[in-house]
Amino acid sequence: MTNETSDLNRRGALRMIGMGAAAAAAAGSVGAASATAQSGAATSRPLAGKVAIVTGARANMGRAFSAALARMGADVVVHYHRASTRDEAEQSASLVRAAGQRAALVQGDLGDVKVVKAMFDAAEREFGGVDIVVNNAGAIIKKPMAEFTDEEFERLDAVNNRGLFYCLREAARRVRPGGRIINNGTSLLAGAAPGYAIYAGTKAPVEEYTRMLAKELGDKRITVNAIAPGPVNTPFFHSQENERSVAYAAGLSTEGRLGEVEDIVPLVEFLAKPDSQWTNGQTLWVNGGYLTR
Ligand SMILES: NC(=O)c1ccc[n+]([C@@H]2O[C@H](COP(=O)([O-])OP(=O)(O)OC[C@H]3O[C@@H](n4cnc5c(N)ncnc54)[C@H](OP(=O)(O)O)[C@@H]3O)[C@@H](O)[C@H]2O)c1
Repeated sequence: MTNETSDLNRRGALRMIGMGAAAAAAAGSVGAASATAQSGAATSRPLAGKVAIVTGARANMGRAFSAALARMGADVVVHYHRASTRDEAEQSASLVRAAGQRAALVQGDLGDVKVVKAMFDAAEREFGGVDIVVNNAGAIIKKPMAEFTDEEFERLDAVNNRGLFYCLREAARRVRPGGRIINNGTSLLAGAAPGYAIYAGTKAPVEEYTRMLAKELGDKRITVNAIAPGPVNTPFFHSQENERSVAYAAGLSTEGRLGEVEDIVPLVEFLAKPDSQWTNGQTLWVNGGYLTR
C-alpha cells in the first residue's frame, strides 16, 4: 500500500487566504462587493473546504467523479486498486489539481480493512477530515452461476459487499456532520439478466446499506444515497459483453445508446451538494430509461 500527497505549499497558501477572509469578516469589514464575490464562490464552488474520498478512481467513473468534486471545490483522496495502475491514478489526481484542489493517492484492496482505514487516515491527516465518500469501486464477472468458482465469488464479494461495508462503517464513524455518502450500485438491481446473478447479488447490499445507514446518520445531517447506473460505455461493461449483447443493452435505453460517464456525473454532483439535503436514503436510477422501478 502506498500513500502519497502533494500540493502542501498550495495548502498553506489556501489556509492563509481563508484566515484573511475570516479576520476581515470578524472585523465587520466585508463590503458588498466581497459579499457578492463570496456568494458567487459559494455557487461555483459549493464544496469549498470539503474533503472527498472516491474509491476505484484510477479511470472511468471514479476519475470523472473525482474531477467533478474538485471542480466544485473539494480536495480529493483518489483511491486506486492495483499498484500497476498508479500512472492512471496519477492522471486522475492531476485533474483534481488542475481544478485548483489538493489530491492524495491511496492504493490497495478494499477487501482489506487495513486499506480502508488507511484511506480515511490519509484524508484526515492530509486534509483535516472527511465530508464526502463516493463508494465507486466494484468488480464484475458475467457467467452462469453454475460455473462460478469460489474464488470468483470471493473476488466480487470482497469489493462489492465486504469492502463496501468496511468503507461505510468507516464513513459512519468519521464523516463530519452535514456530510455525503454516495454508493455506486447498478440498474441490474431493478432487473434480471442471465450471467449477472453474482454481480447483482453482491451489489444488492448497496441499496439496503444505503437505506438503513441513512436512518442511522440522519441526526448528523449526513445523507446516504445510491446511484444505480445502467450500462455505461467503459471497459468494465465491455469486458463482459459482445457486439450483439452491447447492441441489445443499448437498445433498451430510450435513446438507443449506452450511457456515458458524463451522463452519470451530474447525479453525483447533485448528491454531493449542500442543497441535496432532502434527498436521503434513496437509490437513484440513471440509465436513460433502461430499467425503471
Ligand atoms: N460500467 C457499467 O456499465 C456500470 C454500470 C453500473 C454500475 N457500474 C458500477 O460503477 C462503478 C465504476 O465502474 P466503471 O465502469 O467506471 O469501471 P472501473 O473504472 O473499472 O471501476 C471499478 C473500479 O473498482 C476497482 N476495484 C476492483 N476491485 C477492487 C478491490 N478489490 N479493491 C479496490 N478497488 C477495486 C477497480 O480497480 P482495478 O481495475 O485496478 O481492479 C476500478 O478502479 C463500479 O462499482 C460498477 O459496479 C458500472
